[in-house]
Amino acid sequence: MKPFTTEINTENGFLKNAHNHLQRRLSSMQGQYFDAAAYDALLKKEDTLVYEVYENINMPKVPGELYHGSSIVHPGKVGEEFFMTKGHFHQVLDTAEVYSCVHGHGYMMMETPEGEWAAEELKPGVVLYVPPRWAHRSINVGTNDLITFFVYPGDAGHDYGSIEVKGFRKLLVERGGKPAVIDNPRWAGV
Ligand code: F6R
Ligand code: ZN
Repeated sequence: MKPFTTEINTENGFLKNAHNHLQRRLSSMQGQYFDAAAYDALLKKEDTLVYEVYENINMPKVPGELYHGSSIVHPGKVGEEFFMTKGHFHQVLDTAEVYSCVHGHGYMMMETPEGEWAAEELKPGVVLYVPPRWAHRSINVGTNDLITFFVYPGDAGHDYGSIEVKGFRKLLVERGGKPAVIDNPRWAGV
């Protein structure tokens, strides 16, 4: 493989020459938002685009490679809950990831299988280190697109399994005009 460049547009997150472009609409996030009635009502109106990812992942799936790309979470809410990515553990749990925020305002919600959790604020200039074992979900709490640039090992893979079933332990919702962390009522054992 030869060195190559791509170019990120810091206003809209578009990654020129990216190898892959993924789009996730509301309909692909069934069961992910805690207010099911608000989700159904919104989906009835329109199958809104919630987030997009441009990625360079055409390298071998080996630890020495670095997959990277841009993630764009559009602004919006389902009930009180902000638009967000599905979120995942890495399939190879002991792999980390770096996120750098280039536009917008958001949070990264994170948790470990052992029950620790953390929510770190994302605003332009912030570089976030997601250590091995921490599941991560980007959440847009602002009125513009939340754009981040991410880098992770080529062998990491994605594990959506447990999060698709019960979500994260904590949710980020709007209360009194401000983002607030609350317990996820759907989380098993709560
Ligand atoms: C890769 C990574 C990001 C996310 C992207 C979309 O390990 O963390 O590229 O994949 O932000 O989020 P998910 O994959 O949770 O739908
Ligand atoms: Zn990841």
